[in-house]
Amino acid sequence: MNVSDKYRSNWESYWSETSDDAGEAIWDCDPALCAEPYSALLLPHADPARTIVDLGCGNGTQTRYLATRFARAVGVDLSHAAVEHARRATQDGAVEFQQLDLTDGDAVRALHERLGDANVFMRAVIHQSEPEARPAVAAAVAEIIGTEGRAFVAELTSGSRDVLKRATSEPGGPGPKLQRVFHHGLKPADADDAEIPRLLGAAGLKVLAEGDTALPQTEYLSDGTRIDLPARWFVLAGA
Ligand SMILES: C[S@@+](CC[C@H](N)C(=O)[O-])C[C@H]1O[C@@H](n2cnc3c(N)ncnc32)[C@H](O)[C@@H]1O
Repeated sequence: MNVSDKYRSNWESYWSETSDDAGEAIWDCDPALCAEPYSALLLPHADPARTIVDLGCGNGTQTRYLATRFARAVGVDLSHAAVEHARRATQDGAVEFQQLDLTDGDAVRALHERLGDANVFMRAVIHQSEPEARPAVAAAVAEIIGTEGRAFVAELTSGSRDVLKRATSEPGGPGPKLQRVFHHGLKPADADDAEIPRLLGAAGLKVLAEGDTALPQTEYLSDGTRIDLPARWFVLAGA
């Protein structure tokens, strides 16, 4: 099942109306708080000589960091505008970006054929994908890693809904970055907690390690607290 035209155009319009400035996307945090600690969780299980593919890479902030820890990094995203942001921000020859829909099985297979078994990094993509498309996103992780690659996946948990509710009911309403997310019809933390591990298992992925985390956002509540969204991480191998 591919993504709907509505879902695709929501992401396209979101990224078209987001500037190139660092942190303008609410999830666009410093890699020191994200790809750096998450690479440390993945690296004991993964071969850094293999390419790492950042699935749903957005503007490529985390992808660029991953290229410093793995031989090469490839960022793929559904949105053409996101890929353009990512390319504009990148000078490093070890990083490459490509527009790709993770639910397009032929495109995912072609990427795997080109790269061989690769490592995967995927942060915050399944939780807001359309329910019907989620199995295909999990299957894309399995396809890209094959038997030799390893994956790091972090997805929002239901606890994020409470934090988002609180941010939305602030006296002045949500901040402009969160408002932009809702304005473009995006639905963060839509998946239930049991669903993500179930989808990963159904795609033939084995959990090597897992734990709780929180995804730091670039927007703050009126009391000065940073919006940190509860999430769960998984290190995965193929069958
Ligand atoms: C919440 S953002 C996270 C971006 C990035 N992973 C990060 O952590 O900064 C989710 C990203 O996934 C992309 N995305 C959503 N569905 C996708 C799909 N079916 N195929 C590829 N990318 C997708 C969106 O365009 C968006 O850039």
